[in-house]
Amino acid sequence: MQWTISKIIGSRQIWKTSMKAVVYTRYGAPDVLQLKEVEKPVPKDNEVLIRVYATSVTTGDCNVRGFTFVPPGFGPLPRLMLGIRKPKRTILGVELAGEIEAVGKDVTLFKKGDQVFGIDSDRWGAYAEYTCRTEAGALAIKPANMTYDEASAVPFGAGTALSFLRLAHIQNGQKALIIGASGGVGTYAIQLAKYYGAEVTGVCSTKNLELVKSLGADQVIDYTQEDFARNGETYDIILDTVAGKSSFSRCKGSLTPEGLYLAVAGGPKDAVKML
Ligand SMILES: NC(=O)c1ccc[n+]([C@@H]2O[C@H](COP(=O)([O-])OP(=O)(O)OC[C@H]3O[C@@H](n4cnc5c(N)ncnc54)[C@H](OP(=O)(O)O)[C@@H]3O)[C@@H](O)[C@H]2O)c1
Repeated sequence: MQWTISKIIGSRQIWKTSMKAVVYTRYGAPDVLQLKEVEKPVPKDNEVLIRVYATSVTTGDCNVRGFTFVPPGFGPLPRLMLGIRKPKRTILGVELAGEIEAVGKDVTLFKKGDQVFGIDSDRWGAYAEYTCRTEAGALAIKPANMTYDEASAVPFGAGTALSFLRLAHIQNGQKALIIGASGGVGTYAIQLAKYYGAEVTGVCSTKNLELVKSLGADQVIDYTQEDFARNGETYDIILDTVAGKSSFSRCKGSLTPEGLYLAVAGGPKDAVKML
C-alpha cells in the first residue's frame, strides 16, 4: 500500500492511502480487468470501511463486465444506468467477506475489528483491498464457523434463491423443480427448498448430477438425457435460473394448476408472466 496526498483543503492536508483494485474501464471479456492502484475509499458517516479478505466472481459481475446480461425487454435502460460507452463504476464485486477497519460517526451496528460478510448489488466495489458499505445494507457478522472464502460466496446465490422461494411462499410437502440446480443460485435453491420441506428435483448436466444429489435433491434430471417438460411430472414451484434456454411457455405444462413459475434469469416479459 502506498501513501499519497490526495486532497488539499484550505491549509489542511488530508492524507489518504491508495489501494490495489481490479478495475475495468471498458466492457468485454475477462482481459478487460486490470490490477491498478486506486484511491482508498473513506467511509461516510453511515458507512463502514471493510478490509476485503474474500470476494467472488458472480454471474452478475460477468454479465455487467461483458454487457451480456440484458434479457429482451429492458431496451436501452441498462446502458443508461451502467454507462453508455464505458462503465460508470469501474470496480466490480458485489459480495464479500472481510474485517471492518473503520466506521463512520453515525454507525452503531458495527465496530472496528468485526468480521463481516454481505452484498451490495447496486454499488459493487469488492474487487479491491477495501470497500465501503452502508451499515443499513445487506451486511452481517460472519458466523465464526465459516471461513472468509465460504462466507463471501453466500449472499448472491443464497439471497437470490431465498427471495424467490419466499416470493412463492414455499410450503412443506410441495414439489419444487430447480432448473440450473448446479449453479450459483440453484445450489442454494436446492438446499433452501429442502429446508422448507419441499420435495425437490434438480435439473443439471451429467457432470453435476452427484453434486446436486449431495446437496439434498430427491431427484436429479440430466438435461442432456431427459426433457423435464416431457416426462409427465408436475410441480408446485418451478424455479428457472437458466437464461435463454427455458421459458414460462416451455414450463407451463409441468406446473400444477396452482403452480408458480419463478423466472430468476428472465426479463420484464417473464416477470409479467410470473404475475
Ligand atoms: N433476478 C435476479 O435477481 C438474479 C440474481 C442472480 C442471478 N440472476 C440470473 O440468474 C441466472 C443464473 O445465475 P447463476 O449465478 O446461478 O448462474 P450459473 O452459476 O452460471 O448457473 C447456471 C446453471 O445452469 C445450468 N444449465 C445450463 N444449461 C442448462 C439447461 N439447459 N438446463 C438446466 N440447467 C442448465 C448450468 O449447469 P450445468 O453446468 O450442469 O449445465 C449452470 O450451473 C443468471 O442468468 C443470472 O444473471 C438473476
